[in-house]
Amino acid sequence: MNISDPNLQNLANLNWLQIFLFGIYPYIALVVAIIGTWARFDLSQYSWKTGSSQMLRKKNMRAASNLFHIGIIGILLGHFVGLLTPHWVYEPFITAPQKQLLAMVAGGIAGVVCWIGMIMLIIRRFTDDRISHTSSMSDKLVLIILFVQLNLGLLTIVASTSHMDGGTMMQLASWAQNITVFRPLQALSSIEGTSVVYQLHIALGITLILIFPFTRLIHIISAPVWYLGRRYQIVRQK
Ligand code: HEM
Ligand code: HEM
Repeated sequence: MNISDPNLQNLANLNWLQIFLFGIYPYIALVVAIIGTWARFDLSQYSWKTGSSQMLRKKNMRAASNLFHIGIIGILLGHFVGLLTPHWVYEPFITAPQKQLLAMVAGGIAGVVCWIGMIMLIIRRFTDDRISHTSSMSDKLVLIILFVQLNLGLLTIVASTSHMDGGTMMQLASWAQNITVFRPLQALSSIEGTSVVYQLHIALGITLILIFPFTRLIHIISAPVWYLGRRYQIVRQK
């Protein structure tokens, strides 16, 4: 790696925290997530669940869960395609500014749907005495972290309205792609100059990957898609 490479000169503008968060932390999170998932699978398979609260529900909370899940799955699929597709693949069909607008509108709609569902889930989990008492600390924490993350994500849309040329989006996609192909220095040089709201959102996103195996988020990798459409498992007939 040639550090005198002019493309990497702007690394000098980053502070140590940024170098850690955006160049090293993603790999720590990935390693912990992989080893943690393997350990949980091997050592404690019976804890591998999302923990249904159906027995404790007073009203039908299916709508809340559905709105939340439809929104968040839409957002994450959008992130996956939007951040990891190389520019040359979509260049013939859509320009960078158009792609940014698409991400803002589609991500914004999915974000609002998710937000409504999350508010309902949070109110239930924190205000319904029976559910609050049977919830683990981690169930509550995950919900709060996801909610903060969602709000930061929605704030990035506000930040993006002041630069509609697609430039920041290209920088952030370049960060994600360079991290994925293990080029942390190039990744770091892409994050330089982006506003703090994007950086906070990415740092918290990486934290979600880090804690993923130790929380109910583990259900994401085992839950078959048909689960969403199926009827609730009847635990107790009223
Ligand atoms: C294949 C996709 C998914 C399926 C099939 C699925 C399924 C489920 C089910 C069945 C529940 C339990 C609902 C209940 O309380 O009765 C649940 C809860 C939950 N899921 Fe998912 N899920 C999926 C993806 C995701 C994703 C991508 C996230 C977030 C990144 C997520 C986060 C959560 C959270 C936080 C809860 C707890 C909500 C609460 O506090 O009540 N899920 N999921
Ligand atoms: C490792 C995890 C994550 C990373 C690296 C990440 C990164 C990003 C980036 C770079 C943007 C700006 C996109 C642009 O301007 O082109 C963005 C937008 C957004 N993010 Fe995330 N994010 C992550 C997880 C999440 C999660 C879990 C949620 C939901 C709780 C979320 C919700 C949003 C929303 C609503 C937007 C704005 C709409 C959009 O551009 O799609 N993000 N995210």
